[in-house]
Amino acid sequence: MLKHETRALVRPVRPSDLPYFVRGFAQLSAESRHLRFFSQASELSPKQLKFMTEPDHRQHEAWGALDLKGPEPTGIGVARYVALPERPGVAEVALTIIDAYQNHGAGTLLHACLHLTASRHGIHTFYYDVLWENSKFLRYLRSIGARVTGSEANVASLELPVYAAPRDVPQNDGTSVRFARLLHDVMTATPVDA
Ligand SMILES: CC(C)(COP(=O)(O)OP(=O)(O)OC[C@H]1O[C@@H](n2cnc3c(N)ncnc32)[C@H](O)[C@@H]1OP(=O)(O)O)[C@@H](O)C(=O)NCCC(=O)NCCS
Repeated sequence: MLKHETRALVRPVRPSDLPYFVRGFAQLSAESRHLRFFSQASELSPKQLKFMTEPDHRQHEAWGALDLKGPEPTGIGVARYVALPERPGVAEVALTIIDAYQNHGAGTLLHACLHLTASRHGIHTFYYDVLWENSKFLRYLRSIGARVTGSEANVASLELPVYAAPRDVPQNDGTSVRFARLLHDVMTATPVDA
């Protein structure tokens, strides 16, 4: 259950999720597209869609959330890591939550799921490229322990340890305490058949 009584199904992405990606991208605001993709592309290419919906669940993982409230499930968002071939044990992360669902806790929940999978597959560090103007997301990442490791033009590079347990998360404020609690919840959740 997310904030505002949104009941969500959370699970790894599979190829049959492709229609959710097409519809979800169409629902993203220009601002969110810019913050996530650093561009104003109007649609995802077939190549991008294939890549996004076919993670190998080890070196490339994507967790998605679906809203179960209506007659048909609708996409809420997705969090993904992709291992960097030139840096063993390091994976690049990106998160996208459809605007109508932002601030409901879905981003933090999916991010916690990524930590769980990565820690089980030998990934120890997450890497993020974030526009400097994306101040809320930068604040969120820093709250849970990310460090800025580089800056080029308008993009900040950050690194964060992959957390295998809630006790490893530095819990200094509400954001990090929330993240640690959700990490605990996903680690102890009982999987449903979905
Ligand atoms: C950034 C993003 C993934 C956060 O997901 P979310 O589901 O809205 O976040 P949550 O509700 O779990 O909140 C997590 C924190 O993110 C912060 N946040 C970051 N960007 C935000 C945004 N655009 N809207 C609302 N909250 C945002 C919140 O303040 C919150 O901090 P808090 O715990 O101190 O309140 C989402 O807003 C989004 O998809 N934005 C557009 C794309 C993007 O910026 N991606 C990140 C770069 S890859």
